[in-house]
Amino acid sequence: MCGIFGIVTATEQPLGPILIEAARRLTYRGYDSVGAATISGAKIDLRKDTGRVDEVAAKYNLAEMSGTRGITQLRWATFGAPSQVNSQPHLDSDGDMVGAHNGNVVNNVELRKMFMEEGLVVRSQNDGESCVHAVERYIDRGLDFIEAIRRANDDLQGDYAYVIGRINDDKLYAIKKGSGLVVGIGDGFTCVSSDLPSILPLTRTIIRIQDGEIITLWADHVELRSVKDGSLIERAPEEITETMSSVQKGGYAHFMLKEIHEQPQVAREVLHMLAGSSDVQAVVDQMKNARNLYFIGCGTSYHACLAGAVYFARLAGRAVIPVIAPQFIPQYLPTVGSQDVGLFVSQSGETKDVLNALYAAEKQGMQCYGLANVIGSTLTKASICSLPLCCGYEISVPATKTFTNQIITFLYLAYRLAGRDTRELDAIPGLMEQTITLTTPQVQAITPDVNAWEDCYSLGYGTTYPMALEGALKLKEITYSHCEGMLSTEFKHGPLSAITEGFPVLFSVSPEDVPVIVSGINEVTCRGGRAIAIGQENASLRANASDLIVLPEASPEISSLLSVLPLQLLSYYMSVARGYDPDFPRNLSKTLTVD
Ligand code: AGP
Repeated sequence: MCGIFGIVTATEQPLGPILIEAARRLTYRGYDSVGAATISGAKIDLRKDTGRVDEVAAKYNLAEMSGTRGITQLRWATFGAPSQVNSQPHLDSDGDMVGAHNGNVVNNVELRKMFMEEGLVVRSQNDGESCVHAVERYIDRGLDFIEAIRRANDDLQGDYAYVIGRINDDKLYAIKKGSGLVVGIGDGFTCVSSDLPSILPLTRTIIRIQDGEIITLWADHVELRSVKDGSLIERAPEEITETMSSVQKGGYAHFMLKEIHEQPQVAREVLHMLAGSSDVQAVVDQMKNARNLYFIGCGTSYHACLAGAVYFARLAGRAVIPVIAPQFIPQYLPTVGSQDVGLFVSQSGETKDVLNALYAAEKQGMQCYGLANVIGSTLTKASICSLPLCCGYEISVPATKTFTNQIITFLYLAYRLAGRDTRELDAIPGLMEQTITLTTPQVQAITPDVNAWEDCYSLGYGTTYPMALEGALKLKEITYSHCEGMLSTEFKHGPLSAITEGFPVLFSVSPEDVPVIVSGINEVTCRGGRAIAIGQENASLRANASDLIVLPEASPEISSLLSVLPLQLLSYYMSVARGYDPDFPRNLSKTLTVD
């Protein structure tokens, strides 16, 4: 997720320190590049590069930048590799306009081609530059800014927000279409940003912008207009009274709940990134030709590896060896060589267990690729190439959105390996949204009963087996109770003896595995246990399970992904009901850099 911030002041002043601080406050969104531009009279000062905010600020002395208008942007690469030229903000062809965006312009490739054919100066591959050129070509035809932005809106497809300004003007302009945007009104300045944390240190008077609105910012006031017909929109400013910490949680009680709800949006981002990534084909080709293919990770990331192995075998006929990272060296290291490929999976990219396996595998000549959320982490630098998870920062210790984006990436790679149309996966974000909305009340209804126990089981079969393990890990991690995840058919081989009246057993069910799961359910219920099924509406499940948490209809693979969402929600609501802080469970750390 990128982040943008723009400010307009009444008088020329040092804007560098304000822009640096605003950028710092957007870093939670995740980024790989930083840029800042100030406009002063007829001059634009633009400085940008890859790296952390403080690194880029020090290297280019951003603190000395001044003007009456300033823009800063944090970029999380989707279109175009992380590089100085692809960093934002971007200039227009003759360098008298500058702008930056947040979001995805999905027809970026087609637009760039058109701009170049029209003779515009296109310097990067980045879709933020396309926003600037899209406006530029209408300004060049003599339209004013509002009209130019309205016309550009018809050309730019996708979800985005951008801020843009021109020399010898006293204003900035911004538009929101799908991505977040908030305006701040202060004493002698106005500002606009992707999110509140960069605005609140400056002012607590804000206006929340809605999709389809264009904002003109002067130093002393702002004006909102409809992109549809250019008409004026009246909206009174509001005063923010919450603390910075609750604002950072986006109105949710905890980061975990916020991150659960962010899953559809980051799913969209990763699917978009994968569709536009030139690295994907290279990774898929290597996987196709590998002698043995290993997916390696720890904890939640290992569960994603397990799911990936199931998808690869089922969808692409490709066998994969999923390995818990520390077991890789004692079990597989003597057998691997240069014909083998390993995909090392880690949210943080810093897990020592994973890095140990990676370094050892590299020494043996194995071809090592990464799948990581934190760009610039050790894993991303040490592997041949690393696919980003596009989740922004995941603050809560329990992994949620990074898990589902790992799963989506594995599904995408399996589809590509199988030569299947990946557009089938575009339904996932919407289905995730439906699942969260539909299952939240169902989960809340059973929470007190499950929470009365200090023990439970989470079972799955086939595609849902890794999800059952992941659900059990979430429950253990933040409720401090015991929950064991296992293959549903294994339950009768021992743990069935634990069943007493009301003992809760969770069953994650894919539509194709209903008969085998129903057998397991009956083994539990006939002994007085409570079988809670998570699956699509089904007469047999309805008749046999004690409870059915209903998922929307989807293919078995996508349905398995959806089944983890109610398990995340259940662990969250149980943890909160027990009075724990799910974001920071005792004894645990988000990143484990020790053996
Ligand atoms: C998951 O909720 C955990 N916090 C933990 O299992 C985590 O997935 C594991 O430590 C691996 O971390 P990584 O993905 O950053 O490598």
